[in-house]
Amino acid sequence: MIHVTINGKPVEVSEGSTIMEAAETVGIRIPSLCHMKNVHQYGSCRICVVEVEGMKNLQASCMAKVREGMVIRTHSPKVLAARKVLYELLLSNHPKDCLNCSRNTNCELQELGYELGVGESRFEGAMTKPMVDISPSITRDTSKCVLCRRCVTVCTQIQKVGAIQAQNRGFDTVVSPAMGLPLNSTACAMCGQCTVVCPTGALKETDGLAPVWRALADPEKRVVVQVAPAVRAALGEEFGLPVGTPVTGKMATALHEIGFDDVFDTLFSADLTILEEGTELLGRLNAALKGDESQKEKAVLPMITSCSPGWIKHIEHQFPEELDHLSTCKSPHTMLGAVVKSFYAERTATAPENMFVVSVMPCTAKKYEIQRPEMEVDGNRDVDAVLTTRELARMIKTAGIDFVNLPEGEFDAPLGLGTGAADIFGVTGGVMEAALRTVYEVVTGKELPFDKLHVAPIVGLEQVKTASITIEDTLPAYEHLKGVTVNVAVTSGLEGASMLMDEVAAGTSPYHFIEVMGCPGGCINGGGQPRCTEENYREKRSNALYSEDERKVLRKSHENPDLMKLYSEYLGEPNGHLSHHLLHTHYVKRGKYNQLV
Ligand code: FES
Repeated sequence: MIHVTINGKPVEVSEGSTIMEAAETVGIRIPSLCHMKNVHQYGSCRICVVEVEGMKNLQASCMAKVREGMVIRTHSPKVLAARKVLYELLLSNHPKDCLNCSRNTNCELQELGYELGVGESRFEGAMTKPMVDISPSITRDTSKCVLCRRCVTVCTQIQKVGAIQAQNRGFDTVVSPAMGLPLNSTACAMCGQCTVVCPTGALKETDGLAPVWRALADPEKRVVVQVAPAVRAALGEEFGLPVGTPVTGKMATALHEIGFDDVFDTLFSADLTILEEGTELLGRLNAALKGDESQKEKAVLPMITSCSPGWIKHIEHQFPEELDHLSTCKSPHTMLGAVVKSFYAERTATAPENMFVVSVMPCTAKKYEIQRPEMEVDGNRDVDAVLTTRELARMIKTAGIDFVNLPEGEFDAPLGLGTGAADIFGVTGGVMEAALRTVYEVVTGKELPFDKLHVAPIVGLEQVKTASITIEDTLPAYEHLKGVTVNVAVTSGLEGASMLMDEVAAGTSPYHFIEVMGCPGGCINGGGQPRCTEENYREKRSNALYSEDERKVLRKSHENPDLMKLYSEYLGEPNGHLSHHLLHTHYVKRGKYNQLV
């Protein structure tokens, strides 16, 4: 242990700690624009400087390690003066158009100015050449970039994608894909994790609000909205509610008040996904285990989930030879879009082209996904607009709705009912658990033998989780599966996905079924979720979804009565002809410049 004194307080910390970490242990927060807990790589902003007795120069506390006997001052006059100058220098290369910026009132640079008491910037000089790059998911505005490189860390260190890097030197320095290419011409997965860590408005979701407001004002359009599970676990944060407060009912009320014609729940189509994907898995297991040569093509295992469009784009770029492992199911919100524009359009005598489907998602990659040519049926796009959780919050504020005091509302029938299994789709391990709840019962006629139906080994936020389930007894139709041990793996974040895919590509994967979510922790931590720095925020959001699941009477997808009615009255059977037409898709091999290969 090392002993230091910080602002007069004695502090004992383990060797190797930084000054910033040591200060944190005694409740002293040192300001920063570039620091990232546990993965900090670049000390680029220098806002975190502190004074150390006996050292001539101020030290960057995020990088400098504690040494025995150090006497540190984190807020001395010399430190505050230096921070002010550093801040003003940053501001001298910033457009200062806060009133027009989407991060206004939610910008770390702005907050820091307030904290440091900077009135105006005394410096004027050369400015970085501005450049705006608008991809379907992410908008980059280099004029607002403070070169903190958090986005580079998240893209290269956490997601291990490496789509962006700092390029050039001096005033030409810019965080960008290689050769200044637009993001859409790269292997960027569009996960949007960079937009979550960006301290300013340099990286944000591409605006989806304008077409939604236009559709709402168009009397010809029937505007249908649906909301993903993870949104309800985080939306409240934008209105000051404690992290992890589920706001399902208030959210439904707010969407009605905004004026959507139908407020449906993506939970319904998460249940639909389980029926389709579970049936597909059983088909593959049957084909593999019955040893029927004619079925061999169907027997590609492990089967891998396909709900996460960031993951889909990643595998298309990085493992293009392994696409047969992906389930052919579309993601739940595009499934619901396809059902709205067929079944529901028919029921309401609305022309599909006059149906306008809006998906509120925790995800930026879904903005890219809806533009894929594969995501349409009979010339109608499955989904017309995707809004992130952050954008929905803005929409609610623009509509002047007092969200916190809203009464609890309901989703509309017939596509608004979801089981508890669908709630947990928003957290890593949830899709797998939902699938197992149904598949196990279909095969054995018995409930999944886990406490409260939670498959304990795959609950939690670890990068890779695994479980093995032995099928002891079966219903007569599945006798060939008697005694089979099904191995499953779950991962979230693209680094974990790549690790599991290396095994798949090498032919050594021991798993039958793999769940992949593109963002670390799953959709609760998606690139479109509120920016949150609170300790354990992912656990809290995840608990919100598990509590939504546990409070429900119906907790297995195949128990959803409205879904069963959709099958009996319209779709026929899971994986049947109409289901395939509406709800399944295919994938494409992509090169590193996002070209089809
Ligand atoms: Fe230390 Fe940015 S936080 S240099």
